[in-house]
Amino acid sequence: MKLNSLHDLLVEELRDLYSAENMLLKALPRMAKAASSEELQAAFEEHLTQTEEQVRRLDRIFKQLGAKAKGKKCKAMEGLIEEGKEIMEQDGDEAVLDAAMIGAAQKVEHYEIASYGTARTFAQILGLDDVADLLQETLDEEADTDKRLTEIAESANYEAATVGGEDEEE
Ligand SMILES: [Fe+2]
Repeated sequence: MKLNSLHDLLVEELRDLYSAENMLLKALPRMAKAASSEELQAAFEEHLTQTEEQVRRLDRIFKQLGAKAKGKKCKAMEGLIEEGKEIMEQDGDEAVLDAAMIGAAQKVEHYEIASYGTARTFAQILGLDDVADLLQETLDEEADTDKRLTEIAESANYEAATVGGEDEEE
């Protein structure tokens, strides 16, 4: 796709996000299953429901822009999910693995926050107020999820700090 205008760039950014959200839709149920703490499980499950709505929101946005709803493979999200997968495949203490998974999930949220923020600003500049509002809604949800993960991390990381030690065997 040629990038001849900010409008083109907005569509390109949205296609990256469309791909990212769809990958996350597949990853979140696995992350919820792998989480040990119920609080973390619940956070992943709720974010799955939210993500489903976020994909629908992107569908609406593409329609408003008269662009085809399709993804352009988001290599960043692919890599972030891959890192999450590595954590889930590792053995170790439950609390430590939960702390690792929270960190991986927050990297995902920060990527999305950056991308939605960029797309929202493009839409604002282009005078596409309805699109900008929809993107802001998702941006707020991602920020809330990030905040919630930070809160869970506060207790989870302390728990992780109490396990292991010098005489722990490999
Ligand atoms: Fe999202």
